[in-house]
Amino acid sequence: MNVGIITVSDRASTGEYEDHGGPALQAESGKRGWHVLADAIVPDDKERIKEVILAFEAQGCNLILTTGGTGITERDVTPEALREIMRVEIDGFGELMRMRSVDITPNAILSRGLAAVVGNSLVITLPGKPQGAVECLEFVEGAIAHTVKLCAGAPTSC
Ligand code: MTE
Repeated sequence: MNVGIITVSDRASTGEYEDHGGPALQAESGKRGWHVLADAIVPDDKERIKEVILAFEAQGCNLILTTGGTGITERDVTPEALREIMRVEIDGFGELMRMRSVDITPNAILSRGLAAVVGNSLVITLPGKPQGAVECLEFVEGAIAHTVKLCAGAPTSC
């Protein structure tokens, strides 16, 4: 599994704030034996987010994980960016992430995180809080391998 990791944060992108979300997802990828092919830190800017997701897909990342920008402030545009370039949204990922996360924090209802197919890649948008990103990844990880195969167009049965 080739993974791309994108931290979406104005402050982390300028160096004002140390990125913890990206390294947390790197560590989670390592634990699962996934190869991190590419990583980036981008501001909460729709065009930059779209550009990097498309570049990582073109580079061969089967799975692209973003962290940050899924909430409800004016700068939170990660879901909108993804929806502008996706072929199809996979609703169950967002539903499950929120359903499971509200047992941990009621504020999880604020995340508009989703998963979608972009080209041949599965893209999952995780919350910005590192622990939240890790938790959400854990909640949906059971479906990732199969979904990634389908995104790549591999013949596979459920
Ligand atoms: N989900 C889990 N599992 N754990 C968390 O700590 N934090 C929530 C939510 N989802 C959280 C979570 C909070 S506080 C917010 S504001 C939203 O994710 C959106 O976060 P983001 O804008 O940084 O993506």
